[in-house]
Amino acid sequence: MTSLSDVLADSAAQVEKFLDQLLAVEDATEHRLHEAMRYASLEGGKRLRPFLAMQSASLFGVGERSALRTGSALELVHCYSLVHDDLPAMDDDDLRRGKPTVHKQFDEATAILSGDALLPLAFEVLGHPETHPNANVRIELVNALARASGACGMVGGQMIDLQAEHEAFDIAQITRLQRLKTGELIAYACEAGAILGQASKQSREALRDYAHDLGLAFQIADDLLDVEGSIEEVGKAVNKDADAGKATFVSILGTERARSQANRLADQAIAHLSIFGDKAERLCQVAKFVVERKS
Ligand code: IPE
Ligand code: IPE
Ligand code: MG
Ligand code: MG
Ligand code: MG
Repeated sequence: MTSLSDVLADSAAQVEKFLDQLLAVEDATEHRLHEAMRYASLEGGKRLRPFLAMQSASLFGVGERSALRTGSALELVHCYSLVHDDLPAMDDDDLRRGKPTVHKQFDEATAILSGDALLPLAFEVLGHPETHPNANVRIELVNALARASGACGMVGGQMIDLQAEHEAFDIAQITRLQRLKTGELIAYACEAGAILGQASKQSREALRDYAHDLGLAFQIADDLLDVEGSIEEVGKAVNKDADAGKATFVSILGTERARSQANRLADQAIAHLSIFGDKAERLCQVAKFVVERKS
């Protein structure tokens, strides 16, 4: 069997190619905006969310092009979220994916606008008939991504994350923060395959349960990397959470307990996939990867 890292690299290359073609620079007065959008989206990142979308879609025999477009649309939302997350008003970071952040490379206003433009582009990609011939499926994809990205999802989580710098949070509050901030987009990645494949309620729920545990494990790993990772490997600054006085799983549980919690969540995530049998092998592998990753 091909190794997970080879399969991840192959799907990342497909996403890169798709985004490269999508984000052509317009020869117009506003070309700086298009350049910033490309800078924010190309050449970097694990492309984990598109991989999850493509793998979950493959459980239901969905066409590769549909899955690639859906996963790439989600990656656009993720890239926009990173650009805004790095802004001085948010985490104030200078390094992302091993390069200067968008506001450092361009300027703050251009960074804000490039994020603003990446978000609707994601919905444009989903709404195109090439994503799925059935308009009802496309509407469901759009609605689910809108929910996962907005106030009840990623943006809501980002709001709580800012509050976590000033308020004493317990584990339940941190769990909710992470579920919104990171978990909802990861859940979308997994559910999108089921939406595309018009899968049964049971399959969809199993993927959602998998994604729920995976998303939490993923964010605990991110918090651990902030404490233990090296700037060269993670491609972004480290010790940011502690410096900002931010409550995270690691600040509350300590590194050892946080790591065992992440491993337990990964095992739990894998258990939810049993209904799919061997077909879900890659999704099982990715759950392990998420907690063992060094970047
Ligand atoms: C980083 O996400 C932001 C979080 C939600 C923790 P990733 O670790 O997936 O970042 P890239 O896309 O690989 O750069
Ligand atoms: C960001 O979380 C999550 C987003 C929604 C962008 P973090 O602030 O922990 O992500 P990093 O550590 O900067 O990648
Ligand atoms: Mg942040
Ligand atoms: Mg950040
Ligand atoms: Mg982080």
